[in-house]
Amino acid sequence: MGNVAKLEFGDKRVELPVIVGSEQETGLDISKLRALTGAITLDDGYVNTGSTTSAICFLDGEQGILRYRGYPIEVLAKHCSFVEVSYLLIYGELPNQAQAQDFAHNLRRHTMLHEDMRLFYNGFPRDAHPMAILSSVVGALSTFYQDSLDPHDPEQVAISIYRLMAKLPTIAALAYKKSVGQPFVYPRNELTYCENFLQMMFAVPSELYTLDADMAQALNLLLIVHGDHEQNCSTSTVRMVGSSDANLFASISAGICALWGPLHGGANQACVEMLEAIKASGGDVKAYINKVKDKTSNIRLMGFGHRVYKNYDPRATIIKASCDQLLKKRHINDPIFEIAQELEAAALSDPYFIERKLYPNVDFYSGVIYRAMGLPVSMFTVMFAIGRLPGWIAHWKEMMESPGKKICRPRQIYTGPVERPFLPMKDRK
Ligand code: ACO
Repeated sequence: MGNVAKLEFGDKRVELPVIVGSEQETGLDISKLRALTGAITLDDGYVNTGSTTSAICFLDGEQGILRYRGYPIEVLAKHCSFVEVSYLLIYGELPNQAQAQDFAHNLRRHTMLHEDMRLFYNGFPRDAHPMAILSSVVGALSTFYQDSLDPHDPEQVAISIYRLMAKLPTIAALAYKKSVGQPFVYPRNELTYCENFLQMMFAVPSELYTLDADMAQALNLLLIVHGDHEQNCSTSTVRMVGSSDANLFASISAGICALWGPLHGGANQACVEMLEAIKASGGDVKAYINKVKDKTSNIRLMGFGHRVYKNYDPRATIIKASCDQLLKKRHINDPIFEIAQELEAAALSDPYFIERKLYPNVDFYSGVIYRAMGLPVSMFTVMFAIGRLPGWIAHWKEMMESPGKKICRPRQIYTGPVERPFLPMKDRK
């Protein structure tokens, strides 16, 4: 393979530089294509389009590999805390002891919300979806921290990162407390990131709250496996919004909205709802698989299939093992887990799924663990957002620090009417 690709278009011959990444992924650099030929590329859903070079996350969908900054996800999930992994994603290296302590200290010092922010929660309806609350309150951080909005000032960016990482669990837990009508519980800074989140969610002022180490460990693992996934829909949204030099809070708020959709982060909620519906209708897994295969039904097997993984999602393997372990240890007999396992076995032996390379993705089992923790389904996507936050921040920061940064502005092939005469109202049919 040469270091240029040759393209013939009409009477033009163009040489496109070939860009090879550190894992030998290959891209054709078309940045001069329009200038040289007058043509653009068209790629619905960006299936063949690399929007950037990036040093944060590597994934190989065919082989089921996922690495953050070069470290396999399995190794990080086994040995690290979510805070350590967040540091790795955001700053590029695993922290040494002093850096880890400093980072954890900075996150602990920023967990509280401004008291006026709590008033926002009074304005939302009781049944508001927590993802809507999350994106609104994160966007509103930019009104409270106007001292740190310059995306090109490293000190302001550093403080915004601490604030956002520290406050997102508090914002999320308050959204939950609002939905169940319980008093808000303040953060406790002597606890770890995951323990603190669990106590803000489940403690009540009238009782002593006992932390559950198994649940905190399972949460730590879930957050790590959600940490980053290169240029997915929400991360691309964060980069797209940030490319206009929008501040970190505004960019992440947009990413939260993108994550909400059922084809992306909303799939964990949709997956558990699907499992519950199968259980409610008698647990007939085969009948459900047949419905999914029937193209007229427009039903998908939620938690299955992935734009990039055409093999078992490595995150699903980690989560399934953790789910199995947690349910056994706590003697939780969840029929939903059994249905999920039956569904997985039936799909993996069915030619429809085999031919299309459809395997369980990260969302297939995560909901079962969240249920075991006592989280309502509406909070599942919020958990995904807390896990994905360091990845979003890392991509936003990488883009801001890139010397070649440009505003993202795709083009289009226009297919609407050509110029036509204006008709006054009286002449229109
Ligand atoms: N159930 C049934 N059929 C499916 C599924 C599914 N979950 N996923 C894909 N297919 C089929 C499609 O119908 C299509 O079939 P066809 O070739 O006969 O038309 C073929 O597989 C290819 O599907 P596409 O939609 O082209 O694949 P794409 O890469 O665009 O979609 C996606 C990926 C959106 C994740 C899809 O697999 C899906 O909808 N899955 C269910 C939702 C889900 O679990 N999302 C979470 C993704 S992971 C994440 O965001 C963290």
